[in-house]
Amino acid sequence: VIVTVTPNPAVDLTYQVGRLVRGASHRVTRVLERAGGKGLNVARVLHALGEAATVVAPLGGPAGEWVARALAAEGLVVRPVPVAGETRRTVTVLDGEATVLNEPGPRLPPSDWQALLDAVETSVGGGASALVISGSVPPGAPADLYPRLVEMAGRVGVPAIVDTGGPALLAAAEAGPAVVKPNAEELAAATGEPDLLDGARGLLARGAQRVVVSLGSAGMLAVSAGDAWRVRGVPGVHGNPTGAGDATVAALALAVTEGCRWPEPLLRATALGAAAVLAGAAGEVDLAAYRAFLPALSAEEIR
Ligand SMILES: Nc1ncnc2c1ncn2[C@@H]1O[C@H](COP(=O)(O)OP(=O)(O)OP(=O)(O)O)[C@@H](O)[C@H]1O
Ligand SMILES: [Mg+2]
Repeated sequence: VIVTVTPNPAVDLTYQVGRLVRGASHRVTRVLERAGGKGLNVARVLHALGEAATVVAPLGGPAGEWVARALAAEGLVVRPVPVAGETRRTVTVLDGEATVLNEPGPRLPPSDWQALLDAVETSVGGGASALVISGSVPPGAPADLYPRLVEMAGRVGVPAIVDTGGPALLAAAEAGPAVVKPNAEELAAATGEPDLLDGARGLLARGAQRVVVSLGSAGMLAVSAGDAWRVRGVPGVHGNPTGAGDATVAALALAVTEGCRWPEPLLRATALGAAAVLAGAAGEVDLAAYRAFLPALSAEEIR
């Protein structure tokens, strides 16, 4: 079982309108409500691949209950951590373009964060094959939340895969995760290094065992102390890039679990990311496209 942690889940609301006009009232022509969060999307992709995944997330109030029910209805295994604050919402207004409003999420008391750590410890200790830690660390969460999660996995020999940015990425790297997966902007912003390889080596120096950088349509890069690989993106892929990174994380977690030799995990991640762009919503992948893309990709060693 691959365990995914999402410290800041949400109810994602999408409103379709004709044309968004500032200061005006709008008739909403379509409403979509979905459980949102990067770790949830990773679990969705794993589920689509036929792999067992457990979602661990702090969930509070009616919105939190709704998220737990919605995920269960999708067939996902959820370990909800009941918390004092109401689960946040995000609102996307679609009028051809997407205007996004993200609530910050509730400020939770320390006891709630401890409950999350305990739930992850139980899940990871119960025979997990990998721990995926995804998304932003919400305001008020302990600054060392991610390194503590990585260490927790490390103590029981479970590889951790981290997908986040900012100070949380740097802090998580220090705890020695198997893989960190920033995109190019996140890597540059967190490390202050404009050069991708220098940025990746900065995270290796902090303690990450491998740094995988996603480059959108340009593909991916994987760097460890011993090797470095580059895979070019699948050409001619157009669609919805939101959640493509989550699909790559699912592929990396699975490949690490299966003990694949590099660059195979990178090939799988690049193909699955492209397959996610072709699917409608974040957390969905076009499996037929994935199977078609994978054999056409090759990795080039960087020296
Ligand atoms: N337009 C595209 N064409 C082909 N492949 C793509 C395209 N966009 C994304 N991908 C694939 O998906 C991977 C992840 O995309 P990206 O780098 O945009 O992730 P991200 O910024 O972390 O996204 P998110 O956090 O929204 O999930 C890329 O490395 C690539 O393999
Ligand atoms: Mg991302």
